[in-house]
Amino acid sequence: MENLTYLEIRKKYLDHMKKNRHIEIPGASIIPENDPTLLFVNAGMVPLVPFLLGEKHPSGTRITNVQRCIRTIDIDEVGDTQHLTAFEMLGNWSLNDYFKKEAINFTLSFFLDVMGFDIDNIYASVFEGNHDAPRDEESIKIWSEIFQKNGIEPTVGKDGRIFPYPKEENWWELESGGPCGPCSEIFYDTGKDPCGKDCEPRCPCGKYIELGNNVFMEYLKEKGNYSKMERHNVDFGGGLDRYAMISQGTDSVFETDIYKPILETVQNLSSEDLVKSQRVVVDHIKAATWMVSEGVIPGRTERSYVLRRIIRKAVRHARLLGIKENFTRKVGAVAIEQFSPVYPNLSKTQDQTLEIIEEEEKKFRKTINDGIKKFEALVKDNKGISGEEAFYLYETYGFPIEITKEMAEEKGFKVDLEQFKKAFDNHREKSRDAAKGFFKGGLADTSDMSKKYHTTTHLLNAALKMVLGNHVHQKGSNINPDRLRFDFAHDQKLTDEQIAEVENIVNEQIQKDLPVCFEEVPKKEALKLVPDAVFVEKYGDKVKVYSIGDKENPFSLEICGGPHVEKTSELGKFKIIKQESVGAGVRRIKAILE
Ligand code: ALA
Repeated sequence: MENLTYLEIRKKYLDHMKKNRHIEIPGASIIPENDPTLLFVNAGMVPLVPFLLGEKHPSGTRITNVQRCIRTIDIDEVGDTQHLTAFEMLGNWSLNDYFKKEAINFTLSFFLDVMGFDIDNIYASVFEGNHDAPRDEESIKIWSEIFQKNGIEPTVGKDGRIFPYPKEENWWELESGGPCGPCSEIFYDTGKDPCGKDCEPRCPCGKYIELGNNVFMEYLKEKGNYSKMERHNVDFGGGLDRYAMISQGTDSVFETDIYKPILETVQNLSSEDLVKSQRVVVDHIKAATWMVSEGVIPGRTERSYVLRRIIRKAVRHARLLGIKENFTRKVGAVAIEQFSPVYPNLSKTQDQTLEIIEEEEKKFRKTINDGIKKFEALVKDNKGISGEEAFYLYETYGFPIEITKEMAEEKGFKVDLEQFKKAFDNHREKSRDAAKGFFKGGLADTSDMSKKYHTTTHLLNAALKMVLGNHVHQKGSNINPDRLRFDFAHDQKLTDEQIAEVENIVNEQIQKDLPVCFEEVPKKEALKLVPDAVFVEKYGDKVKVYSIGDKENPFSLEICGGPHVEKTSELGKFKIIKQESVGAGVRRIKAILE
């Protein structure tokens, strides 16, 4: 096996897929643009949902890319050899093009022929079937033939090579539904001793590493029900860092060439040699640089809360490591340097990013010692931590619940999260939105409501320009089934008259029953049509320009990936429910359809 650098592997994967007639498209931002209820992009398929559902992709039917992902569900796993909060996912997709056999073979030939992994170390899993979809016999057959051809007995099940697993492991879907299906994972045996007699590929002990996952997306989940789609898509995703770990023969992803300089910086600052804490600091500060450089700032709700939580957790682990001085600036600078060659925006925004992270570090440093003293007092005499007490630590010392939970677990206690939530809700009755946002871990929404709010957002943007002036342009957008939220450049509070005027204009366009259409045009041309388009860099060479209204003289024209309704009459009555300021020169509007 060749010893390949992280960047070499990245390139070799894309080249391999291009050789197999895939077109490379740029990765999207980690902040979901058109996937409203999702906090962060957590898989390469997220920005591609409309195309998996049947919209025509400007780059064709075979797509590949590298997508940065943030997995909030993995935050508390970080510390082992292979989990990361923020990572790069290598992906390839068939949009109703090839299916199982080609997909598995593309993936396998990347590992065997390009990476030089040995088939003797390869294991596969398939979907075992349930009442929604049958056992994946086709994948079993494909894998059996592959193993047989290589002189390996293709035994299915225990002590074999092919493992049928239930839905929890071998079915991929977003929580909110949409395109989904059974999947076939591919595992690498590190050669370590099994952890026990039941050790098998899905075991988390570290013997087996999941290399990637081919999802066979021929189902649609809507309102909890599954139906078979007319299309057969493939969605492959795999973690680049893990391939570097195997290729470079390191014990964990943190010793690979991309993470090593960050790890060494942390080690040099530490006086205690605690491997888990070092890994947490490396991962969390790196993830924080990615989030802040994309515009997230630490705060009390939604993604701002996730950012606060990981910075504060890093501060606690730095404390365990005996790091006395401020460290986030030093560690963050190295993390930015490592990833800037691929993501130049990181170095462009470096000063501001490091400033924001350090500010949060300083804030927490002011209260952490007192908070820990209080915590110690609470657990003295072997008393656990009640939900109320966890809420007190949160409210008084700024301890995110996850940190209290982790500290309690280190002492062998559990925290009553339900009780914490109740205490939280009681104290926050006034700001229900905050409580909702805080507990949200929601995922992409492809519902009808989401389409309606997308189209409404275009109408709102155009109406704001008419009423307030052409300086108005989008700074951010977020949609969930209950409302739309739109941030835009404008430095004054809107008057009641202006709000009423914007509402009237939008409602007029809805009543006119205007058609919503799109056209695919080269990026350059699109920029001429929509000069103030935002976030264009995430789209490929060709982009969609959505128009609402008359073709020659549309009411709204925007570059957007969709999804949208077909006619404005589908929208209902538009109403602005709130406006607020979200920083210098940026205002936020929340609005609903009644
Ligand atoms: N979307 C699939 C996953 O993330 C590939 O596992």
